[in-house]
Amino acid sequence: STRELILAIESSCDETSVAVVLDGHIILSNIIATQINSHKRFGGVVPEIASRHHVEAITICAQEALEQAQVAYSDLTAVAVTYGPGLVGALLIGISAAKAIAYAHQLPLIPVNHMAGHMYAAAFVTELHYPLLALLVSGGHTELVYMKAAGEFEIVGDTRDDAVGEAYDKVGRVLGVPYPAGKTIDEMAHQGQDTFNFPRAMLQEHNLDFSFSGLKSAFINTVHHADQKQETLNANDLAASFQASCTDILVGKTLEALAKFPVQQLIVAGGVAANLGLREQLKAALTANQLDTELIFPPLRLCGDNGAMIGAAAHVMLARKEPFAGLDLNADPSLSF
Ligand code: KG4
Ligand code: ZN
Repeated sequence: STRELILAIESSCDETSVAVVLDGHIILSNIIATQINSHKRFGGVVPEIASRHHVEAITICAQEALEQAQVAYSDLTAVAVTYGPGLVGALLIGISAAKAIAYAHQLPLIPVNHMAGHMYAAAFVTELHYPLLALLVSGGHTELVYMKAAGEFEIVGDTRDDAVGEAYDKVGRVLGVPYPAGKTIDEMAHQGQDTFNFPRAMLQEHNLDFSFSGLKSAFINTVHHADQKQETLNANDLAASFQASCTDILVGKTLEALAKFPVQQLIVAGGVAANLGLREQLKAALTANQLDTELIFPPLRLCGDNGAMIGAAAHVMLARKEPFAGLDLNADPSLSF
């Protein structure tokens, strides 16, 4: 058949996901088994627990993905899998499953960078035109990426310390918000006001780098200080103040990047791209600066980790005739662009 059907597997962190993607931009199925409840009581992802859950879920997810898409193994064009960055044990479960399927059904194996996957979630929203810029914000990454052409990634801005999602989750612990804290802090922020005026690191510097550890420390110190004096602070105002700093930093650096790299499309992707405050502020900033750059956010359900985004990235790699992986494909926990 002439249909391009990619079975895409994602298991880099705490979501086991398998999707079937048609022609690079149509999602026939996108099964996501989340393990969040198993990690909540530890306040973060426990790698060993993550691996065990992936082992239990992966085959069922693959079967469900094919069933829901009404596709058989023999219909597939290729198998794609995330091979990094992520937790090594978690990655290896997805990779092993992908190898087994590729070997048993004689299919090409496409090795996908998880961050490229996040970025290509935007391909489900609209056709991408290059050059473009992407702001990739997740639990492990905070990057500005310039793309001259499809499949060509250049990191032009990066965090010097914590990723923004990591800062949300650490601040969440102090607030008593369960992991992952981003969505709840976002909701609290909308009920509060920026009364604490936390720092906005490096915003005055004309580079494209980020820093969130100072903000995190300022937040934690403020709360501990109040605890010592047996004062109670308004949690919604704390959340609003933290989020205002984060969004000011992200928006400021993104505007700086757009000035340096004038492009027609700006993609915002990764778990933190689900943040409603960030979405609102970025939209407002583009308007205020009279920039007609098209702002592309993947739908909320495609911002977090999922197989469909891996399928979209694999489609581009297939079109570019990038080399397939062999059955010796290994996980690369610190894979970069
Ligand atoms: O991309 P993702 O699902 O996994 C990684 O590759 O890291 O991102 C997860 C991160 C977590 O830190 C979570 O707290 C954050 O995304 N997150 C949010 C929101 N939803 C998820 N952060 C801010 N606002 C949100 N609405
Ligand atoms: Zn991710």
